[in-house]
Amino acid sequence: MKSVYHLHLTDEQIEGAKIALLPGDPARVEKIARTAPLERPRFLASKREYTTWLSYIGQTPVLTTSTGIGGPSTAIAVEELAQLGVRIFMRVGTTGAIQPAINLGDVVITTGAVRLDGASTHYAPIEYPAVADYEIVRALIQAARKLQIPYHVGITCSSDTFYPGQERYDTFSGYVPRHLQGSLEEWRRLNVLNYEMEAATLFVMCNALGLRAGCVAGVAAQRTRSESVALDQLQMSEENAIRVAAKAVEILIQSGLG
Ligand code: URA
Repeated sequence: MKSVYHLHLTDEQIEGAKIALLPGDPARVEKIARTAPLERPRFLASKREYTTWLSYIGQTPVLTTSTGIGGPSTAIAVEELAQLGVRIFMRVGTTGAIQPAINLGDVVITTGAVRLDGASTHYAPIEYPAVADYEIVRALIQAARKLQIPYHVGITCSSDTFYPGQERYDTFSGYVPRHLQGSLEEWRRLNVLNYEMEAATLFVMCNALGLRAGCVAGVAAQRTRSESVALDQLQMSEENAIRVAAKAVEILIQSGLG
């Protein structure tokens, strides 16, 4: 029997699961594990920021494990899940859009990520691309279309920090270091779609380790209009991303992956 420390899990508990859905928030795990077409949800473990449930789509086991916020805790979750046998990782999160045509509640499907993180550099040098797995991107697009949820496909900026790295001024000091001043506008001009905090680490480490990864995120902030997360729309943003991710997992299983 193989057991892993931070996730507090064993290979026997995950019943051969090869696919994991990865929200950041432990409070979102049970909700995802109960979202159709996932069925027969069961709690497995909870330690620190890592909560894990197991569900099934038909005969195929699917895990949902929270990663906590940011690259370092995500890298621990992915490393330990891979040790237990997981090979496909699908982040399902929330995000701040930086293109004006993207609306609150839409989802962003990431093809590649700007590496504004640190953890990914521990897996591969900065020249190495942070790219999603093509089949996962395709499944996410198919899922969004089937569910008629508005979606956008493209490049995401993954930042280690929610505040200065995403150029937020509504903070304790109100100051953003000079090298990040104007960065939101620069990413916007370079056709980056959104900010979030985990995709770059996830993509680099999965490609470097021979694993597959994808990311879908619900738009919870519209940064061309406001720095704040839109709390009244947050639930819809989360739900849209979760529904797309769960459906995409079904599509991947039907296509022989997982
Ligand atoms: N997550 C982020 O990283 N940024 C946002 O603006 C919203 C969610």
